[in-house]
Amino acid sequence: MANKVTLTYNGDQTIELPVLPGTLGPSVVDIRAFSKTGMFTFDPGFLATSSCESKITFIDGDEGQLYYRGYPIEQLAEHSDYLEVCYVLVYGELPNAAQKVEFEKTVMKHTMVHDQLTRFFNGFRRDAHPMAMMVGVVGALSAFYQDSLDINDPEHRKVAIYRLISKIPTIAAMCYRYNQGLPFNYPKNELSYTANFLHMMFSTPCENYTPNPVLVRALDRIFTLHADHEQNASTSTVRLAGSSGANPFACIAAGIACLWGPSHGGANEAVLKMLDEIGSVDNVPAFMEGVKAKTHKLMGFGHRVYKNFDPRAKIMKQTCDEVLNELGLRDDPQFQLAMKLEEIALSDPYFIERKLYPNVDFYSGIVLTALGIPVSMFTVIFALARTVGWISHWNEMISDPGMKIGRPRQLYTGAKRRDYVAVTDRK
Ligand code: CMC
Repeated sequence: MANKVTLTYNGDQTIELPVLPGTLGPSVVDIRAFSKTGMFTFDPGFLATSSCESKITFIDGDEGQLYYRGYPIEQLAEHSDYLEVCYVLVYGELPNAAQKVEFEKTVMKHTMVHDQLTRFFNGFRRDAHPMAMMVGVVGALSAFYQDSLDINDPEHRKVAIYRLISKIPTIAAMCYRYNQGLPFNYPKNELSYTANFLHMMFSTPCENYTPNPVLVRALDRIFTLHADHEQNASTSTVRLAGSSGANPFACIAAGIACLWGPSHGGANEAVLKMLDEIGSVDNVPAFMEGVKAKTHKLMGFGHRVYKNFDPRAKIMKQTCDEVLNELGLRDDPQFQLAMKLEEIALSDPYFIERKLYPNVDFYSGIVLTALGIPVSMFTVIFALARTVGWISHWNEMISDPGMKIGRPRQLYTGAKRRDYVAVTDRK
């Protein structure tokens, strides 16, 4: 394989650009020297651009492969658990038995938030969207944990990483409880990470709550499947924010803001809203006509990278079956409607030609609903799970001595230079 490409420009001038191989996936053309030509490259939406070098997550969109630190997502979803996946993403290796225990102990020991932070919520309206509260409260962590803001100190970075993984479920559950007008639940550190989250969401002072192990496992899988996904929009946002030297809590708040959009983390919420709008199986044909006329999209379908199948969707579909069986919800009309949409879309030439398949969010919304989690919390759950991915990428970037502030250029197509006209002389 060629290890450089030669570009000809301005007729007869040439420039050689090195080709860098990865351990997996396509090689990349290193265009850093390209600016010598006096031009820039143009790639809105980053369709052909690698924004960084990373050792964390690998995706092969054509083959439907997703690896965290080299471990296939299918193996992690079956044999591992979310906290172990967090360890793998942060440290790059599976923990040995002692490391696993120590990691779990440390994370679970730091689940409480500063008591003053609980008062922060009172400033929000009760009907505030939980993602609006997440952006604000997670950003505010930088005002509470000022002893872990020195990004150049590896110990500060480690403490911030643990704090974020430990406290994000507590804050997420508080957003829900505040919406509901329910008292906040303190974490119970003897529970597993995921069972504790369900406890903080659903326990009341009046009744005992024992998380159902099948549902705990299903939610833990949702966390695992959402833990990282290479250089997606929110991860790139975290990296860009972090490249200026901003503190980790502020960077994660930036990631949460980006995740909120319906083309990214807001999609599972959009799937449920879409199912509500369609209403019944009888309305599916008319809805599909609207999709083909581009009046609306089939939410939960399509992906920028997966053009064959989304490996997370396969696992999620299986989890969906397990949960619906456990709860006796197989005949649930909403689930039946989702299955009808899936069936039609998978056999319709519009979707086949465009390689549009169900993505993870098509099924995760159904599972979350079955778990009793309201639609407005779906993207919060995604943010909770993705925090470890964001912070691992942030840490990888900050640890790189060659880190540069992210500063793209543009193709300017606005007005040429012109002189200011006094207001009295304007037409
Ligand atoms: N329903 C109907 N048509 C679609 C859809 C859809 N969900 N997604 C793409 N298309 C069409 C699109 O209109 C275009 O058609 P044409 O070639 O005739 O112009 C073609 O497929 C290619 O689409 P694109 O917009 O160029 O693809 P993209 O890679 O820019 O967009 C996407 C990827 C995920 C934003 C898009 O598929 C989408 O909006 N899907 C629905 C939202 C969704 O489910 N998002 C969750 C993604 S998975 C979670 C995550 O990782 O964040």
